Amino acid sequence: MRLHLKIWRQAGPTAAGRLEDYTADDVSADMSFLEMLDVVNESLVRQGRDTIAFDSDCREGICGTCSLVVNGIPHGPDRGTTVCQLHMRRFKDGNTITIEPWRARAFPVVKDLVVDRSAFDRIIAAGGYVSVNCGGAPDGNTVLIPKEVSETAMDSAACIGCGACVAACKNASAHLFLSAKISHLALLPQGQVERDRRVLAMVEQADADGFGSCSNEGECEAVCPKEIPIANIARMTREYLRAMLIARR
Ligand code: SF4
Ligand code: FES
Repeated sequence: MRLHLKIWRQAGPTAAGRLEDYTADDVSADMSFLEMLDVVNESLVRQGRDTIAFDSDCREGICGTCSLVVNGIPHGPDRGTTVCQLHMRRFKDGNTITIEPWRARAFPVVKDLVVDRSAFDRIIAAGGYVSVNCGGAPDGNTVLIPKEVSETAMDSAACIGCGACVAACKNASAHLFLSAKISHLALLPQGQVERDRRVLAMVEQADADGFGSCSNEGECEAVCPKEIPIANIARMTREYLRAMLIARR
């Protein structure tokens, strides 16, 4: 396939960015999207030109590092899929593909397609952990947790912290990420000790980092590669109200 690419190039956080045109030749349908970009970069190296910066690590959908907006959709057109798992068979010879970084004030561009997502690290550092000493791994069935509760907690814990939910939201809200992290701990007995302090601290940190609020439109759920449901946001709101009332009392 021959593909026409429009790729966001930006030299640094304060530089002006623009879409630049590239052509990718001999693209195999079996290549992943990131392998296609590797091939474009190899050709730029041969020409002595600056390569396109983009993030990736595991390239198998588990680390949350890849972060490209493909034709206006964070992680591209396939549902429940990270962009590193997107394959070129999804495109046709002659297609034009626009590739941009996550766009949110809280995720400033570092270079080209790479954004700084350390705001998510600050939210986790504010309370996304259990600091009580739980001892070693307990024997099976010593901490009884109903099956549906453990399944819901595990589903929430599947969030890989990629930030696509923020990139898809017109408010640049981090509510889906926040609610997944708050839910998986609030549902389990080990997370109860810090339950109220956690939700207040994490929401406060998200506000301080400039993420917007939620207007319940569901774009976050639609692009989430781990299909985290927005029901988590309702749970987070209940957790927040509960913590506020207890704090006032
Ligand atoms: S909720 Fe989904 S889209 Fe948001 S950070 Fe987690 S995995 Fe990524
Ligand atoms: S590179 Fe790890 S999830 Fe895409």
